[in-house]
Amino acid sequence: MEIRVVQGRPLDGAADLVVIGMFRDARRPLEDADRTFDGELSKLISREGFEGKLGQTLVFPTFGKLPAKKFAVIGLGEKKSFTPDAARKLGGFLVKLAMSNRATTLATSLPGAGVNGMDSRTAAQALAEGFFLSAYRFHVYHGTLRKKETPPRELKTVSIYVTANAAKSAEEGIRTAEILSTATNYARDLVNTPSSEMTPARMAEEARAMVGNGIRVKVMDANEMERRGMCAALAVARGSVHAPVGVHLSYRPAGAKRTVAIVGKAVTFDSGGLSIKPAKGMETMKIDMAGAAAVLGLFKALAELRLPVAVHGVFLAVENMPSGTAYRPGDIIRAMNGTTIEILNTDAEGRVTLADALSYAASLKPDMIVDLATLTGACVVALGEEVAGLMSTDPKLSRRLRDAADESGEPLWELPLFPSYFDHIRSKIADIKNTGNGSAGTITAALFLKQFVGDTPWAHLDIAGPSYTERETRPDQPYGGTGYGVRLLVRFLQQLRR
Ligand code: BES
Ligand code: MN
Ligand code: ZN
Repeated sequence: MEIRVVQGRPLDGAADLVVIGMFRDARRPLEDADRTFDGELSKLISREGFEGKLGQTLVFPTFGKLPAKKFAVIGLGEKKSFTPDAARKLGGFLVKLAMSNRATTLATSLPGAGVNGMDSRTAAQALAEGFFLSAYRFHVYHGTLRKKETPPRELKTVSIYVTANAAKSAEEGIRTAEILSTATNYARDLVNTPSSEMTPARMAEEARAMVGNGIRVKVMDANEMERRGMCAALAVARGSVHAPVGVHLSYRPAGAKRTVAIVGKAVTFDSGGLSIKPAKGMETMKIDMAGAAAVLGLFKALAELRLPVAVHGVFLAVENMPSGTAYRPGDIIRAMNGTTIEILNTDAEGRVTLADALSYAASLKPDMIVDLATLTGACVVALGEEVAGLMSTDPKLSRRLRDAADESGEPLWELPLFPSYFDHIRSKIADIKNTGNGSAGTITAALFLKQFVGDTPWAHLDIAGPSYTERETRPDQPYGGTGYGVRLLVRFLQQLRR
């Protein structure tokens, strides 16, 4: 899909579909269109009970009165609630509208510039993100059956009409949106690809493909991981025929004042291991590398954005399988930082692999560490599927992440690293054990991780809920992997230089 900026009135656009937005509480932009249709438009609006709720539409043929084939009015909701997130949703509704009208070209105005302090760059970026993210489909695996059905018409060209003084900033916003959405859609592809393909080796290949453009990649095989003492991650990997791989990406621009390490959980399939999951619980466990997918997505964007911040991306890719060689409940293993871990449940494997990934990240001496992990079902119980859990040792870091999440529209909510719950994971015969007593499961998992970051300011994002959707709660999140975290991390890094 191509999105371009055009100066002028969308009404003059020769597209399959021309769309004008209408706020619930400000109908003025429609006056022009109303005149074109000799006042019939406003009559139709009141007759149809069109109120201007966000995403509500009214579509009709232009009968030759406009260069376009069809004309639509789309509701923008109340002016005061028109935020970048509303603009992003609007982009999604417009993709759906184009599809259902079989339009391949669409012309629209740029609503939102000047509303609630939004500038035209922000408005254009949000709207364009909505377009790019909503148009995503994963059809690599559609076979002959699917191909027989009529293929849906794809929206190919979107023209966003702006005033002359907004053109340049709108262009910039759209360009940024394209970089961020491409990176997000790439992360979605990684998550959607079945575990039979998305093995640890494949994840390393994906990382290697990033080399260049200021990005360097170091890949560690099992031997090197062993030499470095990454016995916790190796233990999890032991049940699988797929060898584990360690990945360290780095982006170190000259003059960078800060260094951030981003760590992702990279379990390419989580069967639970010997503490095997019930069939239902395993159905979606190809998504258990979504944290690492966000790291890879971030690096895809970093190569293009030239941010003046140094970034390390770290993940240890493993598959968690039951077998004669698998690690067992009762085993005690020593992580890279010397902490000993008593395994009680092999399904609490994420924290075990992250023990080494975080130790490694801390050894790089970054100014801060942020990890993303599909870590606990408990987080989905607590916060649902749309919100990630945030836990941090550093209030300033957590504030920055919450601000970034507000801007990017990837919700997260902070939970306390309540210190006395550490008692739940104290082991009698090792330093710590890998499960608590079942209560506060998200927090005890985070307290486990905290053991491995040393004094480095650290934040943990439990993304078990929002990394995947089967319900499509928003138009810009189609079925499957959501790419949660990519846009949030970019905004977080952008803020760091301020
Ligand atoms: N990968 C799962 C967590 C998960 C569950 C992610 C649902 C996405 C959706 C993780 O490895 C896991 O199995 N956690 C266990 C921990 C328990 C054994 C302490 C869980 O949440 O049940
Ligand atoms: Mn598990
Ligand atoms: Zn897992």
